[in-house]
Amino acid sequence: MRILEVEHYAKQFNIHHLGRKIEAFDDLTFSLKQGQFLLVSGTNGSGKSTLLRCLYRTYLPTGGRALYHSLHGLIDLARAADIDIALLRQEEIGFVTQFLRPRPRVSAIELVAEPLLATGMALNEAEGEAGELLESFGLKPELWKAYPTTFSGGEQQKVNLARALIHPRRLLLLDEPTASLDAQTRAALVGRLAWLKEQDVAMIGVFHHPGDVRELVDTELALGNKTGVAGYPKVEEVYVVE
Ligand SMILES: Nc1ncnc2c1ncn2[C@@H]1O[C@H](COP(=O)(O)OP(=O)(O)OP(=O)(O)O)[C@@H](O)[C@H]1O
Ligand SMILES: [Mg+2]
Repeated sequence: MRILEVEHYAKQFNIHHLGRKIEAFDDLTFSLKQGQFLLVSGTNGSGKSTLLRCLYRTYLPTGGRALYHSLHGLIDLARAADIDIALLRQEEIGFVTQFLRPRPRVSAIELVAEPLLATGMALNEAEGEAGELLESFGLKPELWKAYPTTFSGGEQQKVNLARALIHPRRLLLLDEPTASLDAQTRAALVGRLAWLKEQDVAMIGVFHHPGDVRELVDTELALGNKTGVAGYPKVEEVYVVE
């Protein structure tokens, strides 16, 4: 069953102080079925992260549509009301990046168990599952009750991934989730993604080491570097939905 149909998707940034526009991507058309894995590839600055953010609606796309088949019906992610996007983020669409923004005085195990508690699972059971996942990602048990604010980059990423992947979403967007991980953890992550795929989760991902996920990939979307401007000054154009 189709879950996402992206048609003529485009995103331009207005660089006001330079009086010009930057095209992150233009006229992208692709679709995704449940349980399918789409690998997004391309050079630095080719628009990979921007595409994921436009689907998650951190950015507003400037053209095209993204028809998402939600449990409640068909919805265009490019035009949906903020309240609907907020609900989809709670229930159906997950986004995992390279970075965890740890909340002060919340332990690793609490952060990971939270999405399960939100589904109504009992605390003991949720923390049990959270511990199992953290263990499979190689986070030392003595750190489970500690606050991730003081963790190393790789340790924070393990918590970040466990939190994002503990409860299967219908559509998962992944932006270089393996960048700060050692080989062993990368293998554990790939195992988890394979399990999610078996649960029919559709995934769109950018990977620092695409070889890791070769076995999972169904289709690939190669983005071209149309702007050709590496390290271009960024402007804040973040569209936040709380
Ligand atoms: N908020 C922004 N304001 C202005 N330009 C932006 C913004 N975000 C991204 N861009 C520009 O859009 C283009 C695509 O950026 P994007 O981050 O999507 O690339 P990427 O393919 O993810 O690159 P990388 O491999 O380095 O992560 C770049 O030229 C970038 O400068
Ligand atoms: Mg990127």
